[in-house]
Amino acid sequence: MSDGRGRWTSRVGFVMAAAGSAIGLGNIWRFPYMTGKSGGFVFLIVYLAIVFTMGISVMLAEVVIGKAAQRNPVGAFAKLGGGLWPLVGFMGLTAGFIILSYYSVVAGWTIAYIFKTPLGLLNYSDPKELAEMFGKFVGDPIQPIIYHAIFMALTVLIVVSGIEKGIERWCKILIPALFLILIVLIVRAVTLPGALKGIEFYLAPDFSKIDTKVLNAALGQAFFSLSLGMGCIMTYASYFPREENAPKSVIWVVSMDTLAAFLGGLAVMPAVFAFGFDPAAGPGLTFITLPAVFARMPLGTLWAVLFFLLLFFAALTSSISILEVVVAYFVDEKGMSRKAAATLFGSMIFLLGIPSSLSLGVWGDFKIMGKVFLDFMDYLASNLMLPLGGIFISLFVGWFFWDRGLREATSEGRYPLSWVPLWKLVCRYFAPLAIAWILISGIW
Ligand code: TRP
Repeated sequence: MSDGRGRWTSRVGFVMAAAGSAIGLGNIWRFPYMTGKSGGFVFLIVYLAIVFTMGISVMLAEVVIGKAAQRNPVGAFAKLGGGLWPLVGFMGLTAGFIILSYYSVVAGWTIAYIFKTPLGLLNYSDPKELAEMFGKFVGDPIQPIIYHAIFMALTVLIVVSGIEKGIERWCKILIPALFLILIVLIVRAVTLPGALKGIEFYLAPDFSKIDTKVLNAALGQAFFSLSLGMGCIMTYASYFPREENAPKSVIWVVSMDTLAAFLGGLAVMPAVFAFGFDPAAGPGLTFITLPAVFARMPLGTLWAVLFFLLLFFAALTSSISILEVVVAYFVDEKGMSRKAAATLFGSMIFLLGIPSSLSLGVWGDFKIMGKVFLDFMDYLASNLMLPLGGIFISLFVGWFFWDRGLREATSEGRYPLSWVPLWKLVCRYFAPLAIAWILISGIW
């Protein structure tokens, strides 16, 4: 490509890279414990409803903006909207800083578990011991920060060397592999004695549990899992061949991400109940229950290493996409070199992640709004900033960019969209109003 920004080799390339961004810790680590905290099945239904209305809409909106502007989010809003619109891009950059800072801490845990498993350090079938091990490890003031540094360094390394070839190729292998491993795990998890209670919790309806907190949590989870609201998909779409079928790609990405989350829950929930855990146990859930499942499988160590390896890769294909947003901005707009931008901002994000890691140990008593630092950062970015970004992205496409946006979505009418009227309604009214309502009612 003549502008030197790079481009996916095909639609499948974009779909796999965007799915690589979407599928990550959000699906296999965050989704199960959010589901556990927020009422199981009810959360799942609310989540699905949000994903298939607002999720698809906002993602398509991000794609048409990126595809039309061929720039980073700040530059895209400046080019297509002008005025105050670039502020939406800046809020996205800020959210990216925040999210990646604690995301990398958790991703670091996956690296640690890859090494701890073959050393026999996780070879307990007693989940109580695993829980204790986990708590000790993440609460340590030094170890997890070293892994956090390693993970950030790898993220920087890949972003520095340019992403298209590496990411596209790796995602095409790793995403299918992740699905395969998940299915094997599910088979073991659901056949554990006592697993049925977990499946019931996950799949049996109790609608009395719906309240604004559940809605708010599901909304935050949907944006987080789909990588929406901060310009991540927008940035990837700026490398999208203009003539490709955008809506079809979006449906693929959303479906793959949702399937991965559903399967993640199905792997974790039965084991939680089989071992008598509290499904609302929080961020440790996946790291405690799954090793206990592995310990009860033939060749358990092998499966465990494979699983944490895949989780690590899933996290890496996501973290790259977050750093890429920040780097694309400083490269496109400020003329920085890729290398300088990735190294500088990667280091800053690493530093910002340190308090998150410490908040699980020595700084555990320091709370903001009743949350430890990591949870607070997550809440601030996922439950507030991403949905807020989603509101503005929807309004922009629905009201200010509709005609051009529609031409981008259909590639000048080449791919007629039967759901255009619906998409327009969702962008103009439904998404902004529903998100605003959930945001406001969830905060009080
Ligand atoms: N979606 C990824 C996950 O589920 C995380 C992620 C990548 C993300 N890019 C993002 C979250 C942008 C919010 C915004 O793990």
